[in-house]
Amino acid sequence: MEWKPSKAAGVPIYKQIANYMETRIVNGEYPSGSSLPSERFMAAEIGVNRGTIISAYDELLASGLVKRVKGIGTIVSPDVWEQGPQKRIPNWDQYARDGFFQINNPLNQQIYKIIQSKDHLINFAIGELSPDLQPFKLLQSIHRSMEVSEYLGYEHMQGNIKLRETISAHLQKYRNIETTPSSIIITSGAQQALHLIIQCLLKPGDAVAIEDPSYAYSLPIFHSAGVKTHFLPIGVGGIDPEQIISLYKRNRIKMVFLNPTFQNPTGTSMVQERKQKIIEISTKYGIPIVEDDPYSLTAYNNEPVATLKSMDRDGAVLYISSLSKIVASGLRIGWIVGPQSVINRLADAKQQIDFGHPNYPQWIAEKLLSSEGFDNHITQLRSGLKTKCDLIMEALKKELGGFIEFTVPQGGIHLWCRMNGERDQNMLFKEATQQGVIYAPGSTLGSCQNFLRFTFSRADDHKIQEGIQLFANAVKITK
Ligand SMILES: Cc1ncc(COP(=O)(O)O)c(C=O)c1O
Repeated sequence: MEWKPSKAAGVPIYKQIANYMETRIVNGEYPSGSSLPSERFMAAEIGVNRGTIISAYDELLASGLVKRVKGIGTIVSPDVWEQGPQKRIPNWDQYARDGFFQINNPLNQQIYKIIQSKDHLINFAIGELSPDLQPFKLLQSIHRSMEVSEYLGYEHMQGNIKLRETISAHLQKYRNIETTPSSIIITSGAQQALHLIIQCLLKPGDAVAIEDPSYAYSLPIFHSAGVKTHFLPIGVGGIDPEQIISLYKRNRIKMVFLNPTFQNPTGTSMVQERKQKIIEISTKYGIPIVEDDPYSLTAYNNEPVATLKSMDRDGAVLYISSLSKIVASGLRIGWIVGPQSVINRLADAKQQIDFGHPNYPQWIAEKLLSSEGFDNHITQLRSGLKTKCDLIMEALKKELGGFIEFTVPQGGIHLWCRMNGERDQNMLFKEATQQGVIYAPGSTLGSCQNFLRFTFSRADDHKIQEGIQLFANAVKITK
């Protein structure tokens, strides 16, 4: 071969070889589907070692120009010439695979796809409220009375000031949390709150602790940020606080993510002494706690629940909540309460990401939270959720008594069930969806193979018994 790479060119040798081969391919010397010379041959021809040729071919592979075919070698991609000899088609599949933001758990992807494609499925998989639990009348009257008299510009970086004032009053009244509007940022649900915290306060290589099982477990956003997750197993009264210390000593965890009230998926509420202990540990070791609290207003007995944030005197807890599980998930209103430096940092990031939160849902949320009807809505919501919870437990006892066990939840929207006996979980899930019912397999939420989560808040009351009957059919078929 006449061409030789130049050591003086200031470009790595493997890159020069990749560029040279790319030019030959684009010029048609190697048509689509043809084989490139073997790595060994090229190495001998050019006078470099084989590793350099492998790196050069890897470069062509990454650009989508070639493919590796087992038993043949490296061939020019068939789609390179699709638009005529001088055009290169971007390898979109490769781009879609290689971005740093990780793809969702395939089973979760499947659940969303199935729900979107099958209208009549009885949905026990998604954490939303059924239409009868959403405050439609209240929302309608808010819409009717709403005048768009305010300027529709970019919102304040932390969110609408009136909404933050209202949330501050709401937190005081319903959750015994003292805060000020300037300590609050409005987010697109609790989901964006978690994402902002991970992106802005942690860095690649950091370690955090999350509950197992948990909603956090189902999120690839930790790993997308290069953050390692360690697990705190959920017991009857929540996680064992002593395990935070062990993880801190062993793995230098930098933050702990907890959903202590009516936890997703187990429905567990952490006992008071453990909450106290967690606050003590957090302030003794300087480990921040992120309290994810979408459910504390749903206690069936109408009693207020002591959140970790309400017990936090030293500013060790970042508090997240949202309207998704108490009003409507589609409003996409969530918030974080935290120290000023953190809120400023998150607001700066949110502005870079989406230029602040949309005005409309914030106006609606503000009117709803400050309306006279809100209190009554929460009372009705609690009783509606309890009815659904009773219906699903009754149906499970009747249809699958010996097969399924669960702990009776005192609030929230999830029933965490343990199945007795061996069963192929994939087959059961597939069969259930064919029967017309869908749920969340335990594996999507933690290391719990023979568990599953029935979320009972989404289905209409009269569909709950039918849904469990269909699930029982699937159990019988996959025996
Ligand atoms: C514990 C927990 N955190 C956060 C979320 C995200 O909710 P959203 O973004 O709708 O507020 C959920 C949703 O199921 C959840 O269960």
